[in-house]
Amino acid sequence: MRYAGMARRLRRAAAGAAALVAALSGTSALANDPVQLAQGKKLFTSADPPCALCHTLKDAGTNGQVGPPLDDLKPSAEMVLTALREGVGVMPSYREKLSEAQRLALARYVSKVTGGGN
Ligand code: HEC
Repeated sequence: MRYAGMARRLRRAAAGAAALVAALSGTSALANDPVQLAQGKKLFTSADPPCALCHTLKDAGTNGQVGPPLDDLKPSAEMVLTALREGVGVMPSYREKLSEAQRLALARYVSKVTGGGN
């Protein structure tokens, strides 16, 4: 009896860990979380400085000309995340300006609306 209970708990813990890994790697249903995507869309025009200033992105209705048009680039979520953490060329790093959750929301949003994948 005691053993069966423990086995159930272990299975639950394993399922939880698997869900967490899937969420972190961006492969779960969470990648389409509407709240996160809405947050990403909002940040695109409200981050400091706003992505909109330099990037064209049809879904966000922006036409910045400094950086590559994201609809053409179709960056993966991983690529966006790296750019936001490290900066690229004249594009500033958002390491100090945004939280990791905000960077992730932007990464998921941009890759989703451009078809860039994970
Ligand atoms: C000051 C202008 C500027 C701002 C603001 C800016 N970018 Fe950029 N971004 C650039 C430029 C320029 C490049 C190309 C850099 C290069 O290739 O040397 C770039 C490149 C990128 C890339 C491609 C990265 C790669 O690996 O090639 C992504 C994705 C991106 N930006 C997303 C964003 C997002 C999302 C934001 C808002 C959080 C943002 N950018 C804000 C100018 C900007």
